[in-house]
Amino acid sequence: MSTVRVLTGITTSGTPHLGNYVGAIRPAIQASRASGVESFYFLADYHALIKVDEPARIQRSTLEIAASWVACGLDPERVTFYRQSDVPEIPELTWFLTCVCGKGLLNRAHAYKASVDKNNAAGLDPDADVTAGLFMYPVLMAADILMFNAHRVPVGRDQIQHIEMARDIAASFNHLYGEHFVLPEAQIEETVATLPGLDGRKMSKSYDNTIPLFAPREQLKKLIAGIKTDSRAPGEPKDTEGSALFQIYQAFATPAETAQLRQAYADGVSWAEAKQILFERIDHEVAPMRETYESLMRHPERLEELLKAGATRARAIATPFTARLRHAVGLRDLRAQGEAKKDKATKAALPSFKQYREADGQFYFKFVDAQGTLLLQSAGYASPKDAGAAIKALQQDDAALATLPAAADPQALQAALRQLRDAQA
Ligand code: TRP
Repeated sequence: MSTVRVLTGITTSGTPHLGNYVGAIRPAIQASRASGVESFYFLADYHALIKVDEPARIQRSTLEIAASWVACGLDPERVTFYRQSDVPEIPELTWFLTCVCGKGLLNRAHAYKASVDKNNAAGLDPDADVTAGLFMYPVLMAADILMFNAHRVPVGRDQIQHIEMARDIAASFNHLYGEHFVLPEAQIEETVATLPGLDGRKMSKSYDNTIPLFAPREQLKKLIAGIKTDSRAPGEPKDTEGSALFQIYQAFATPAETAQLRQAYADGVSWAEAKQILFERIDHEVAPMRETYESLMRHPERLEELLKAGATRARAIATPFTARLRHAVGLRDLRAQGEAKKDKATKAALPSFKQYREADGQFYFKFVDAQGTLLLQSAGYASPKDAGAAIKALQQDDAALATLPAAADPQALQAALRQLRDAQA
C-alpha cells in the first residue's frame, strides 16, 4: 500500500484557543495516528510575517503553537514537525512557482480581492496598504505543499481556493518542466464543529471572543463565566438551541454527558451551575496537557531542538528535490552541456487529441492535458475524416472552437491548445 502524504501549516500569529483545538489541533493529531499516512505539520512563520510586524509576537506565537501541538499529543517521531523558516528551500521554490504563476490567478485570490474591495469602498487606491506579501501569499502556500508532494491538505473552508491555486500552479510547472509535482487536494473535515466564542459568534481572534486553550485554571473559569447567555432565571427551563455554552460543552463531552446537560437545561439548571459543569468538563480534558504545555514553555530549548530535528527530516526531502527542480528549470552546472535533448523529451508530455467511435456509430474526439484531464469533448461526427478535420483546424487556431461544445474551463483549454501549437511549431 502506498502512503498518503498529508500536510498542513499553522500560521504563527496568535495564541491557540479552544476553537483551534476543537477545529484543527485535536482532529489533526488524531488523524496523524492513522496508519498509511505520512504527516507533515509545520509552523508557517513566513506566512505570519504577512500579517504581523511585531517580532516579539511572532516569536511568542511560534513558541506557544509549538508547545500546544506537542502538549496535545503530537508525536514528533511519527510526524514531521518543523518550522517553515528552517527550510530555506521553500522560499527558493516559491520563486520558481512565482515564475510560472499567472498574475491574473493571484488577482482573483479572495483575501487579496477583499482588501481591494475594501479600499475601493473607502475611495482609496485599490492597493492601499496591500503588500506584495499578501498578494503572493498563495504562491508561498503552494510551495509549502508542493515541496513535499502532499496529496491531501486538511484546511478550513476559507483555504480551499488556496489549494486549488496550488494545483493550478503545480500543473503549470509540470506542463513546462515535466511531472515533478503531485496535484494536492483540500481535505475538509465535515464532522468537526466550529466552536462559538464568548459572544456566541464563531470563536476567532478577529472577534476577540476566544478562550485560550491553555489559560490557567482560574482564568479559564473566569472566561467561561463570561460566556453570553440569556436572562432566564434559575429554575426556568433553558433552550439548548443557540446556546453557545451548550455547543461548547458538546464539543468536549460524550453523547451521554451531552444528553445529561440537555436534561439539566430542561429542568432549569441555573446558568452559574451550567457554567461550572462546562468549566469542569473542559478543565478535565485540558489539565493534563496544560501541565506539559507549561513545562515546555519553561523549556523553549526542548522545542527548539525538536523543531531543528524536524527541519533536518524535512530537508532530507526538500534539499534533493530542490536540486532536481533547479536542474529542471535550467539552473545547472555549466560543465554539463548537451541537456537540450532530454529537455525535449520532458516536454513531450503534451496535451493530446484522442479519437474514438461510440456505440451510436458516430466518431468523436476529446482533447486531454498531459495528466489526462478532459479539456474538450466533441459532439459526434459522421466520419473519422470529419472528426480529423475538426482536430486539424484546432491545431491551426481557436476559430474552430466556435463550432464545438463549450468547454468546462475555456482558459485551460486555450492554454493547452497554445502549448500544443508551440510544440509543433
Ligand atoms: N494559510 C493557512 C491558514 O491560514 C496556513 C498555511 C500556510 C497552510 N501554508 C500552508 C495550510 C500549507 C496548509 C498548507 O490556515
